[in-house]
Amino acid sequence: MIYNARWGILATGGIAKTFVSDLLKDPKARGALDVSHTVTAVASSSSKSRAENFISELNIPGTPSAYGSYEDIVKDSNVDIVYIATPHSHHYQNARLALESGKHVLCEKAFTVNAAQAKILCELAKEKNLFLMEAVWTRYFPLSIQVRELIQKGEIGEVLRVITDLSLGNSDYWDASHRMVNLDLAGGALLDLGVYPLTWVFQTLYHTLPPAQRQPPSSIVSSMAKYPGTGADESTTMIITFPTTTPSGTSHAHHRTSHAVAMTAFAVGTNPDLRNSTGPAIRIQGTKGEIQVDGPAFRPLRFRVIPKNESDTKVREVECAIPDGERGMYWEADEAARCVRDGKLESEGLPWEESIVIMQTMDEIRKQHGLVYPEKIESTEYPVQL
Ligand SMILES: NC(=O)c1ccc[n+]([C@@H]2O[C@H](COP(=O)([O-])OP(=O)(O)OC[C@H]3O[C@@H](n4cnc5c(N)ncnc54)[C@H](OP(=O)(O)O)[C@@H]3O)[C@@H](O)[C@H]2O)c1
Repeated sequence: MIYNARWGILATGGIAKTFVSDLLKDPKARGALDVSHTVTAVASSSSKSRAENFISELNIPGTPSAYGSYEDIVKDSNVDIVYIATPHSHHYQNARLALESGKHVLCEKAFTVNAAQAKILCELAKEKNLFLMEAVWTRYFPLSIQVRELIQKGEIGEVLRVITDLSLGNSDYWDASHRMVNLDLAGGALLDLGVYPLTWVFQTLYHTLPPAQRQPPSSIVSSMAKYPGTGADESTTMIITFPTTTPSGTSHAHHRTSHAVAMTAFAVGTNPDLRNSTGPAIRIQGTKGEIQVDGPAFRPLRFRVIPKNESDTKVREVECAIPDGERGMYWEADEAARCVRDGKLESEGLPWEESIVIMQTMDEIRKQHGLVYPEKIESTEYPVQL
């Protein structure tokens, strides 16, 4: 039996278009034989006609409803899961609206502005018996799953260090009102891009341990440069220590810790010439070798396993291509559909607890540099008109 998830799309900006265009691809083509997706409704806070244009521009099949407000879409009985694609400043209010109305939620990254908001959303989902997931699509890439499994199998031994970067190399200055740098929209490199280097840090050094052995960072230090004119961060560099190593857990013999360097920036780039000539964006270093993942960190398509052992010098290159015209956001949608079908409230690929620990990590880094967003978007009050 194929389970069909009925989606409501909340907001009609850039990522909503990319997500829906992937959602409309035939799941069978990617080997997903047990789930399918239908977009049953689209809502725009700007106007109903904007939602209608979105539906026609993307050629959404069937007769999806178009709404001119988010309050309307969460009342639609033909919607099972609401996909939240507003700026992260708005995620808490929008996700809460959907959960309060009894809808399952897939919410874009960064999950919320701070960990306190994330916790409340998870508690609410639990109380209402609803599915909730932060839409960190990269976690559901077959490439990410393979890399996590290789670490768990001990392919590169005990992992002691990870270096990750997602930096844009955008030398033009954005206008101060731009989503990426506007404090009112929770702008800044850390919340927008930093979640990806942090995703790699956590999915390698934290998630590869059995849940009971996962421990939050024991130390976080960071540097931050602010964007001229707005005060959002334009460059953030983090050094994170975990009290455990992976995959065996804390090494009792040596009491080892594992370290991560995670970087994000606007003006310098991971691949400044876009020719992928700069080496891997992610290096996962273990006692028996290294896994290197080529960037961009949000949409990696290739990795290599480099064994340390001299008698086994073979470097194994692994390609995980995505067909032209596809982004790769459908794997997270398939996961959300399966969880809803199976009555799961959270995804094992990114449990609530892990999303919250990552938000706490970003809270701590912001605190170290006095990066505070306006009260109304840091607030846990609901409802707040933004
Ligand atoms: N997963 C990914 O690869 C990825 C990539 C890019 C962005 N994102 C995330 O997705 C979210 C949206 O990013 P985006 O690039 O799609 O942004 P965007 O193009 O600016 O779209 C955001 C949409 O949110 C709605 N919105 C409601 N209130 C708003 C306000 N006060 N200001 C601006 N927009 C408002 C608007 O839609 P309506 O007018 O229809 O209500 C707008 O079109 C962010 O959280 C971002 O981090 C994820």
